[in-house]
Amino acid sequence: MSQLPKLSFGKLATPKSGTAVVFAGEDLAFGELSAEFVNGVTGGIERAAKVAGFKGKKGSHLDLIAPAGLEVDRLIVVGIGSAADMDQNGWTKLGGTVMAALKSAKAEQASIVFEPATVVEALSHKASAFALGIKLAAYNFDTYKTKAPVEDDADKGKDKPVKIDIAIEDAKAAKKAWEADAAISDGVCLARDLVNEPANMLGPVEFAKKAAQLEKLGVEVEILGEKEMKKLKMNALLGVAQGSVRPAQLAIMRWNGGKKDDKPLAFVGKGVVFDTGGISIKPGAGMDEMKGDMGGAATVTGLMHALAGRKAKVNAVGVIGLVENMPDGNAQRPGDIVTAMSGTTIEILNTDAEGRLVLADALWYTQERFKPALMIDLATLTGAVIIALGNHNAGLFTNNDGIAEQLTAAGQSTEELVWRLPLSKDYDKLIDTPNADVKNIGGRSAGSITAAQFLQRFVNDVPWAHLDIAGTAMGAPKTEINTGWASGFGVRLLDRFVADNYEG
Ligand code: BES
Ligand code: MN
Ligand code: ZN
Repeated sequence: MSQLPKLSFGKLATPKSGTAVVFAGEDLAFGELSAEFVNGVTGGIERAAKVAGFKGKKGSHLDLIAPAGLEVDRLIVVGIGSAADMDQNGWTKLGGTVMAALKSAKAEQASIVFEPATVVEALSHKASAFALGIKLAAYNFDTYKTKAPVEDDADKGKDKPVKIDIAIEDAKAAKKAWEADAAISDGVCLARDLVNEPANMLGPVEFAKKAAQLEKLGVEVEILGEKEMKKLKMNALLGVAQGSVRPAQLAIMRWNGGKKDDKPLAFVGKGVVFDTGGISIKPGAGMDEMKGDMGGAATVTGLMHALAGRKAKVNAVGVIGLVENMPDGNAQRPGDIVTAMSGTTIEILNTDAEGRLVLADALWYTQERFKPALMIDLATLTGAVIIALGNHNAGLFTNNDGIAEQLTAAGQSTEELVWRLPLSKDYDKLIDTPNADVKNIGGRSAGSITAAQFLQRFVNDVPWAHLDIAGTAMGAPKTEINTGWASGFGVRLLDRFVADNYEG
């Protein structure tokens, strides 16, 4: 991950060099210091705004190069519309907009005068939300770029770091608020890095090592290898891995920030480091994208990072099943029947429906061992969810209306949206088979639902939700704060879900 930008919070002051960023409300309403500053522009800011048609509309900006009368090299005026309409996520998106402007200006140093036109409550939290947007928009997967930037072609090399100072009245409070948002930012960027990383570099063992690094944040991490999983009779998960030379791993991450006796919230992730489809092999076109089939596990790891990093007052456990799905002389075949840890027998009719096999054992294990208050799994589970919802909503399946409401609300406030799809006995029948307790595929129709029904057979009465993130974890349309392939979808959503409902 690129390390840019370098962010700091300082006291409110007039920018003297580099790029200055100030905010304007509708009809060029400035804060006191910003007004005084822009009044220094020879000829006045109104003239430039008029020429550019800039009226302070939310998300728009006015870019003045070498503004006569000012000491700075560049002045960017950013519109916020009405400050009262700007919610937390609005500020985060605005941070992304500003980062894009700084990138295209090739700015090396910027001072942001965080003095919105209409003073709004809890300004420090808004500045911190804004900084989150800056960080998320600056993210760039350039680990394997070996060359310095080539002029006029940012794709050809690494970006230069930009130094950004946010100047704000209560810099101390902003810095304090940033501690939490920085942890969230790091969690999202960790999830993105894991998804972007190619499978030759990130196998199950390498991924488990990344999870183990959370120990630095006070997370307790255990890694189970194939021997331990065999003992636990996790034959559904192990069956998927048996065609790969790389051994399966189960990583368990525990963050104990809540009361000692509080049952944990459990998050379970599908971690298929590469999904060829196995013997039911996938077509070649676009198969490279299956390096991201560990997106659920990446989100769980990023979430645990965020929760521990901001010392969330909650007990949480993350469990990720890490395997590689390969065709091989030892690979599992269509028609094979395996017995899952729960004792349920599964007829495997398509080795490409592997994620649900991994989750079957990971969910059962989590529920049996931790007796969680609730359990949420995340998985790039089905292509069908992309057909149903495109890239703008994750599919949500749950046995609990309360969780559905909480997740939907958290989705709306972070704009990591979820849309509930049904579960029912009728759909459940579609995965019955004469040869075993259950089969791992339904028919052609309702593919995401039958996948979810399959998972539900490995969940007892515990409140549970399944998020199918095949369309949102990767390849989603670019936004203000997501400019690359891997989005880190779910980290901000679930962090908010926890913060709003489960922290005291
Ligand atoms: N990992 C895929 C689902 C996927 C597809 C994720 C596209 C991201 C983008 C999953 O393992 C899979 O192959 N599912 C099959 C299920 C089918 C065989 C029942 C699918 O969706 O086609
Ligand atoms: Mn598959
Ligand atoms: Zn898969």
